Amino acid sequence: MAQTQKRTQVAIIGGGPSGLLLSQLLNLAGVDTVILERTSRAHVLARIRAGVLESGTVDMLHAAGVADRLLAEGHSHAGCVFTDDDLMVRIDFAELTGKSVTVYGQTEVTQDLYAAQDALGTPILHEVADLVIHEPTSSAPYLTYTHDGQTARLDCDYVAGCDGFHGVSRQTIPVDRRTEFERVYPFGWLGILSRTRPAHDELIYANSASGFALASMRNANLSRYYVQVPLTDRVEDWSDEAFWDRLRACLPRDIRAALQTGPSIEKSIAPLRSFVCEPMRWGRLFLVGDAAHIVPPTGAKGLNLAVSDVFYLHQALISALKSGDTSGIDRYSDRALARIWQAMRFSWQLTNMLHRFDGEDSFAAQMRKASLMHLSQSETARRELAENYVGLPF
Ligand code: APR
Ligand code: PHB
Repeated sequence: MAQTQKRTQVAIIGGGPSGLLLSQLLNLAGVDTVILERTSRAHVLARIRAGVLESGTVDMLHAAGVADRLLAEGHSHAGCVFTDDDLMVRIDFAELTGKSVTVYGQTEVTQDLYAAQDALGTPILHEVADLVIHEPTSSAPYLTYTHDGQTARLDCDYVAGCDGFHGVSRQTIPVDRRTEFERVYPFGWLGILSRTRPAHDELIYANSASGFALASMRNANLSRYYVQVPLTDRVEDWSDEAFWDRLRACLPRDIRAALQTGPSIEKSIAPLRSFVCEPMRWGRLFLVGDAAHIVPPTGAKGLNLAVSDVFYLHQALISALKSGDTSGIDRYSDRALARIWQAMRFSWQLTNMLHRFDGEDSFAAQMRKASLMHLSQSETARRELAENYVGLPF
């Protein structure tokens, strides 16, 4: 196990994708870091999250030296499909934007980042408890925490709060100095992973009288599917059979006919939420990724947004630490938030366009149908969707 260090330049709280990627990019530029993670590595790697990478994300992973396996095993997708009952509308990313996305699981990204950090010898402390951020608005912040039964202190120049939605970093900003914006949706996504051939060679986002479904994949023999469920449902309420029946009811006839089913190897329910905390900086503490914002998974923006935060922050920290130029640090929150709000709008709009809301009137369902019809008829509408889906520039 890595030695507990007493001082580092950037203390990173959280060993998820945000913390690992930030650390990797800082280390490559000669900035030293220590990562403090609350859970075990196995626990971090057991989480299944969306698997669609924007091209800017792929470029960043390349710059971080962690793209070899992604390039070999990831699948480039030049389009995806939106459906309304049996109407299928293909969004041709390549033709509309000249870009594509890469299907590669977030778990794999995280694994590649851990391997790269191990190769650099970066101290990553797991199962750290009781973490407190001290004096973040002074020029000498420090952390205290418990690790291996010992209380420890870590002094640093800057603190990166990469500790997800339930972390301590955001809570460290006094309530009267931050504003939180939130929209909680009245449904969740029930997701399964199964060793079956994907329903289609591209992702399908389906609107239907039975609600929303998504047909996604990890590789040629591993499928990931979701259906919308009420928040009151529990995983135990859903047998595999019931899941496949619902999925079939949501997918267009041609896709349904060819759907291969099999036992689920993972099944979970995730609630849907839009959330933003402003600002993303408090003195020398910076919020990154899920610590500052959550998007509903419609559009797969979560990891991609974390990567754009890391893009702005790593540049800012390197300039500050290497040449004393703190202008990037001063601009970090505004630059990151400008892009975050665009992804918020996109994922909210897609969520509304594709989900049935309990208690809605018959007009709402017609509006969804009209949106999908418009998408099928207007190249301008398809281009607008494609531009956001492949990712706005950093
Ligand atoms: N001390 C140390 N670590 C903590 C603490 C704490 N008090 N609280 C939380 N953590 C850790 C969590 O255990 C988790 O491993 O911080 C990590 C945060 O990781 P993520 O939740 O994955 O967040 P992030 O790295 O910003 O990733 C963003 O990944 O989580 C998905 O949907 C998200 O796709 C998005 C992307
Ligand atoms: C997934 O494959 O898990 C996935 C893909 C696209 C999304 C959300 C999740 O929008």
